Amino acid sequence: MKIFHISDLHLCKLYKRNNIIKTRKLLKHFVENKYDHLVITGDISDNGNPEDWVYLRKLLLSYGIYDKNLVTLTIGNHDIYGGVQTALDILSFPSRCLNTDYLLKVKQFYNVFADLFIGSSASFPNLFPVLKVVNDVAFIVINTIDFYGKILNPFASNGKVSSTDYSNISGILNNPLIKDKVKIILSHHHFYKNNVESTSSYSSIWNSIEKHTMKLRGKKKLIKLFSKGNINFVLHGHSHELKSYERKNILFSNAGAAIDNLNDNLCSGILINTISANIEPINIHLSEDLPFYSLKPVYNY
Ligand SMILES: [Fe+2]
Repeated sequence: MKIFHISDLHLCKLYKRNNIIKTRKLLKHFVENKYDHLVITGDISDNGNPEDWVYLRKLLLSYGIYDKNLVTLTIGNHDIYGGVQTALDILSFPSRCLNTDYLLKVKQFYNVFADLFIGSSASFPNLFPVLKVVNDVAFIVINTIDFYGKILNPFASNGKVSSTDYSNISGILNNPLIKDKVKIILSHHHFYKNNVESTSSYSSIWNSIEKHTMKLRGKKKLIKLFSKGNINFVLHGHSHELKSYERKNILFSNAGAAIDNLNDNLCSGILINTISANIEPINIHLSEDLPFYSLKPVYNY
């Protein structure tokens, strides 16, 4: 299977319109090249606005790929808590996070993309992890977003997998149905050895603060579990760069710089061939103007 991996779309009609153009370019590339599956690993919305998810759903529909056999996605910290877009947002961010109903946000996200999860096995009570089998591939979609906490997670960008989710992931990996499948984890957070390796898209001050607060707590334990469960690939984003690396014989792909890459005319993805275990970065220049896709608000989440 040829999987096109993109991440961190950070869609936002008000502040980041170029991200919409880049996303469209990537979807067009996916369709034109007839890849088998598209994976998006979170931060679909920049500011946690469900309308941005609905917008992506409309884009997928408009390209004829809103289909569970063609697209799988997971949730990012910006989808739940949003981010900082103006200087004033820095001041209001903590109270905004405190007022966010985390579980409701996860439910809304799942509902907006419900058609992509139909026939998959969701978990009780947190919906994630989800097991979705497409042909010879088993996608295990996990939620790595930690709850906001003034001290432990002040920028809402750290990750954690709850103990309930951990045992549900373990249960999925022991499911005999996926024994002979290529097993792929979809995570938002990265598994770097050193957290300073990671970068984000904000101003340099915010960036230097955030890169120390983007870690996934308990990642060693998770990698051990993945290794025991014979996971082949882990696809993620969160840190805005394009790279692949290996841990315990598992190939990791980070497509976090698909859109947010300091170049207004460049978007990227990572092409993963599950048969040859090949991982290849794809860079696409925005050389042509695309007609703007108009969005009418839909309130069905
Ligand atoms: Fe993120």
